[in-house]
Amino acid sequence: NRATVSLNTQRTVAEISPLIFGGFAEHMGRCIYEGIYDPGSPLADENGIRQDVVAALKEINFRIMRYPGGNFVSGYRWTDGIGPKEQRPRRRALAWRSIETNQFGPHEFMEFAREIKTEPMWAVNLGTGTIQEAADLVEYMNLPTGTLYSDLRAKNGHPEPYGVKYWCLGNEMDGPWQIGQMDAATYAEKAVQAAKLMRWMDPTIQTIACGSSATAMPGYPDWDLTVLGHAYDHIDYFSMHHYAANPYPTISNTERLPIDTDSYLASSVHFEEHADTLAAAIRVSKAKRRSKKDVHLCWDEWNVWYRAKGGDGEWSEAPHILEEEYNLEDALVVATWLNTFLRKADIVKIACLAQIVNVIAPIMTRKDGLFKQTIFYPLTLFSNHASGYALDALVRAPLRETNRHGPVPQLDASASFDPATGKGAVFLVNRSQTQPLVTHLCWEDEAPQSVTRAWQMSGEDPFAGNSFEQPDNVVPYEFTPPRLEGRAVTLELPPLSFTALLT
Ligand code: AHR
Repeated sequence: NRATVSLNTQRTVAEISPLIFGGFAEHMGRCIYEGIYDPGSPLADENGIRQDVVAALKEINFRIMRYPGGNFVSGYRWTDGIGPKEQRPRRRALAWRSIETNQFGPHEFMEFAREIKTEPMWAVNLGTGTIQEAADLVEYMNLPTGTLYSDLRAKNGHPEPYGVKYWCLGNEMDGPWQIGQMDAATYAEKAVQAAKLMRWMDPTIQTIACGSSATAMPGYPDWDLTVLGHAYDHIDYFSMHHYAANPYPTISNTERLPIDTDSYLASSVHFEEHADTLAAAIRVSKAKRRSKKDVHLCWDEWNVWYRAKGGDGEWSEAPHILEEEYNLEDALVVATWLNTFLRKADIVKIACLAQIVNVIAPIMTRKDGLFKQTIFYPLTLFSNHASGYALDALVRAPLRETNRHGPVPQLDASASFDPATGKGAVFLVNRSQTQPLVTHLCWEDEAPQSVTRAWQMSGEDPFAGNSFEQPDNVVPYEFTPPRLEGRAVTLELPPLSFTALLT
């Protein structure tokens, strides 16, 4: 049982956009309140921001952060979140049946983004919101003082423009669960008009239009073709959302298939199909217009999510909703997803893990601290070590039959090389639950001097996870790097494992 991975630093997919290592913070559940923002806590700084959370998020090294939703944004009035806190309104947040206190708003988010050293990415409300309100928000965030909203920003404590560059034109507008759902043509026109006004306000911004909210949507991929066809000239990115599951969800989400770990671990087949379909839709739209302009994919919601599905906050503040507990197999799927981003580095230029704290998140908090879920670790290894160019790795591995995806290679791999530093990284997932895999890595052109560091995450139980009681149950361990023999190294990958090697 053997696999080979051939690498050539001259054979690249594309330059890796650091923005593929992004996150998403929504006003829902305990993501903002009790997660990021907890002003009464001894763990919070003078701005109310939890410093243990900041430290963990900085370890992941998120380069971009989407905010404030999600479904929440489609009913959000951004003016609720500015000005003196005691005057900010409490409202019903209809998307998650919760109470929104508005104690955290635009200024607090920008302070948080500054603390974790990330680029902000704002979503505007195209559900109940108007194109004028979207343009007003751009004015508030980005214009030099001298106009109504920029002066208001100064009055609220920030005279300097924030200069937010990335702007999502609504969220999942195809979904019946969305406040203000619309059909593709209606959305496309509203997105164009919003983008037009927003850019008139600040021509330097980049805009992102909504794709279908899932491949299981009945309108997929017609929605995508319609929106791209109409809005292509007005957007820079096209958004895709995808949540992985074991068992696999059906469109109605009511029928469940049985647990099928072999198929689940092969989910990257589906991730690639999704990206390929949208890349093709982008190509067609570009060709139809004879356009010179490129649009890239912004995979701005991705994660494993299928257990904690109940989104009913019962009209309370910071309800415990979508508090998914992750296990080893989820971490392996996340690693194959990050492999997919590198393999699709030519088209996927932004990606945001949904979400970052407590709500389908790598970090879980309670009053006295946090623990890191299994998915925290592959994210951190990729985000900190994949840089430069994604390599077009030639992978040969035994095929394993799966119910959902047919025959799939046992090994899922990606690699990067940064000519500026001479550093490389290789990421390997052995998807088999039972079979180890002897893997031969060889460099066809310049071999590195050595493998400098190596980590591995594995275990016998795909369902094992971490908790406050057992925070280090499933974590990677660093091992002695395999020795280079000529231009190659050979190592045995245990079943159910993720391995990261640095050169
Ligand atoms: O991330 C949780 C929710 O999933 C988001 O609010 C929505 O956009 C998606 O359906």
